[in-house]
Amino acid sequence: PKRILSGAQPTGQLHLGNYLGAVRNWVSEQRQYDSYFCVVDLHALTVPQEAAELRAATRRTAALYLACGIDPERSTVFVQSHVSAHTELTWLFNCLTPINWLERMIQFKEKAIKLGEEVGIGLFDYPVLQAADILLYEPHLVPVGEDQRQHLELTRDIARRFNDRYGESLRVPEMLIRKEGARVMSLQDGSSKMSKSDPSDLSRLNLLDAPEKLRDKIKRAKSDAVMGLQFDPARPECTNLLTIYQLLSGESPEAVEARFADAGFGRFKPILADLVIEYLRPIRERYDAIAGESGYLEGILREGALRASKVAGLTLERIRDRMGLLPPF
Ligand code: TYM
Repeated sequence: PKRILSGAQPTGQLHLGNYLGAVRNWVSEQRQYDSYFCVVDLHALTVPQEAAELRAATRRTAALYLACGIDPERSTVFVQSHVSAHTELTWLFNCLTPINWLERMIQFKEKAIKLGEEVGIGLFDYPVLQAADILLYEPHLVPVGEDQRQHLELTRDIARRFNDRYGESLRVPEMLIRKEGARVMSLQDGSSKMSKSDPSDLSRLNLLDAPEKLRDKIKRAKSDAVMGLQFDPARPECTNLLTIYQLLSGESPEAVEARFADAGFGRFKPILADLVIEYLRPIRERYDAIAGESGYLEGILREGALRASKVAGLTLERIRDRMGLLPPF
């Protein structure tokens, strides 16, 4: 079967953007593909983290994958730092990647502006580590949200450069970006994406937020004064809330527009809040069950690391050989 790989950073919590842009598609895709889902803790380290919180967030993120419906019988769920091939391949790729490819990265430039003097080499090198994550597993497809497009292009460029220099040996993966949900926007600003790093928690709906909190955030979400709700690029906040409604309800965009054509936000927001709360309820319940079952998550991550290491180890061995490293005796 064809293979897919994807991952999310363990910073804060997964939010509805991560879910609609990525995790939801992983769940539906895992039936047809040999699937690898990684918690990328080494990527989280590229900006300052508190050690205890990083550990907790790593567990939380893995447990959320499962709570969202990733089936550990079908899919390999693992923690990036448990598979040392990721860091080793990063070095090998560093020696192949021109600095100016990384200087072009939009996410690096945005984060670097915020961090100023604190910008580490790891942050600069972030996309090379991501290329290693991906190419080690030789996936056919990488399901991600829209914001990962540039990183995926870089991964493809690194694979091509490797093949040019050392002979065809790495699969150049395709990105899978489903149009719907690929870019969920902030509740506070329809022109910026919903993000784990937004300082305002009101900007995002976290998968583990309590029902009252979800209701409050939706109530306080930015809206506009136009009567009647439509998908309209000139009304980004309205479009974003309707999109969330549409994706969670499973109705067609036309049906959603027809239903709320005469409604204002005052009527729509409580309906949306009910929908979000009911949609996330089983996820939160499964999360609580997983978090409460001592040893369960650890077992899955141990098994996942073993399976992932096997696949990654074979690819790494081939790459080391192609690059001329002497095999260990
Ligand atoms: P991260 O942790 O920021 O996000 C995880 C996934 O969620 C998607 N996403 C969104 N989709 C729609 N709307 C949003 N507002 C939104 N915010 C986030 C992201 O596109 C992503 O698919 N660099 C990656 C992690 C990574 C990775 C990888 C991904 C490391 N190695 C290898 C794929 C393959 C990141 O920071 O994702």
